[in-house]
Amino acid sequence: MKILLTGARGFVGSRIADAMDVVAAPSLRAMTDEDIRRLVGETGPDVIIHTAAVSDIGDCARDPEGSFRANVEIPLALVRTGVKAVLFSTDQVYSGRTDEGPYAEDVTAPANLYAEHKLEMERRALETNPDTVLLRAAWMYDMPKYGVRNRSNFLVNMLRERELAFSSTQYRGLSYVREVAGHMQKAAELPGGVYNYGSANSLTMLETARWLAEELRLDIRLRDAGPRHNLWMDGAKLRAYGIVFRDTVGGLRQCIEDYALNLHAL
Ligand SMILES: NC(=O)c1ccc[n+]([C@@H]2O[C@H](COP(=O)([O-])OP(=O)(O)OC[C@H]3O[C@@H](n4cnc5c(N)ncnc54)[C@H](OP(=O)(O)O)[C@@H]3O)[C@@H](O)[C@H]2O)c1
Repeated sequence: MKILLTGARGFVGSRIADAMDVVAAPSLRAMTDEDIRRLVGETGPDVIIHTAAVSDIGDCARDPEGSFRANVEIPLALVRTGVKAVLFSTDQVYSGRTDEGPYAEDVTAPANLYAEHKLEMERRALETNPDTVLLRAAWMYDMPKYGVRNRSNFLVNMLRERELAFSSTQYRGLSYVREVAGHMQKAAELPGGVYNYGSANSLTMLETARWLAEELRLDIRLRDAGPRHNLWMDGAKLRAYGIVFRDTVGGLRQCIEDYALNLHAL
């Protein structure tokens, strides 16, 4: 299967490029829809995995037009080529939900522009080609990667800071990006539709941080950030297709093992 990967130098894309054989697309930032159509035509992929995006909530709020271009128009240009596309979306589409969860795919409530644009992308992509796969990813983490711009994530923040605050009421899944990348072959074979794509978590964010701090014996003060609504996803639909994520602590354990992060265990 020939896979065209966008965002191959980004946080998620660079790990996908490590995990599977792909053709890395050049940057799409300055491309017109016609350029994109030509790129796909010349490459001739069986599947497009699209990770390029403006993925920072604040950046999207500051530049709504840039967000719309990157997060709605560019993915739609890829979908319109007729090639099966796997597009990354976000758990932020649930950010305005106030019920307990975990949230299944059917009811969304985007509470920021980034999530609104991702949701519009999902809807229009499926209207254009019902075979499109939309993966709603949770907040992902990894250690920094050589040659790739580091982005702030839960693990790196925990290792870097001396004091952090997390909510003692918020349940939120965190995913190990190497596991996200490892499931991509199967994800590319999913039938068209929207899927929650990430780890579950039976701990609150504060409990998760405390678990990690204790596991790695980190010198960090953890405070309660106060009440936050949940942001956890129900992965039942994905599991029915044989894609099973470790839970959040399981993913963190795997990452700790992969990088031999537990220096006290040496
Ligand atoms: N990181 C997370 O925790 C997280 C959580 C939930 C969902 N997601 C979603 O997962 C996908 C991958 O996220 P990521 O963290 O890998 O993103 P990222 O590293 O911030 O960006 C990926 C790539 O997007 C391209 N890009 C940046 N600005 C662009 C623009 N204006 N127009 C077109 N392309 C642009 C860049 O590639 P070039 O330099 O080659 O242009 C960049 O390397 C995104 O769809 C994101 O919304 C991420």
